[in-house]
Amino acid sequence: MNYLCPSILAADFWELGEQVARVEKAGAPYLHIDVMDGMFVPSISFGMPILASVRRRSGLFLDVHMMVSKPERYIAELIRLGADGITIHVEACDCISSTLDQIRALGVKTGIAINPETPVSAVLPYMEKVDMVLVMTVRPGFGGQEYIIDCIDKIKEVRRIINQNYPGVKLEIDGGVTLGNLEMNLAAGADVIVTGSAIFKGDIEANVREFLKRM
Ligand code: DX5
Ligand code: ZN
Repeated sequence: MNYLCPSILAADFWELGEQVARVEKAGAPYLHIDVMDGMFVPSISFGMPILASVRRRSGLFLDVHMMVSKPERYIAELIRLGADGITIHVEACDCISSTLDQIRALGVKTGIAINPETPVSAVLPYMEKVDMVLVMTVRPGFGGQEYIIDCIDKIKEVRRIINQNYPGVKLEIDGGVTLGNLEMNLAAGADVIVTGSAIFKGDIEANVREFLKRM
């Protein structure tokens, strides 16, 4: 089963509520919430108040992507505000294991993300503790970047590892995903597809439907 996960980073914030309602109504099951701190990545996006507002009005699975150094500082609050899944970067703190334990103990799905430069081997110690592996297909920090083609081999490698030993774990990709490269990514083994620009630029409902049709 594959899941479309539109990223609100590409939404028009003047119309955020309306745009989230539109992706939900068009049938997307997940919503991706990119939290950036200006330290782990150069840019700053948004955080708790947006998560809280979306949670109050939306039944979508809220997939929080923490592009934040020392994410352990925020886990309890993110969960209190309604995150359904929290993904932390393997590069972002030196207490990955205990942070994943904390997320799980609070009843929320866990994810571990790797940047394009980080080898797949970096996630291996945590596979028992995660519900999802996120392979970044751009350098994190900005929407609208071009997909880094070298990442396709990492997606295939993670898929092999999951199929061999961790069949329940999902494989998410994030960055530069379009209708043009969707099929290649699904064939490589991705099953949670994050996409920002390709959903929110243009006709949102038509974009969601077209992605869903091809998944
Ligand atoms: C990048 C973010 C992505 C971003 C994807 O740092 O993690 O989730 O919103 O946007 P597009 O699909 O426009 O590359
Ligand atoms: Zn993201």
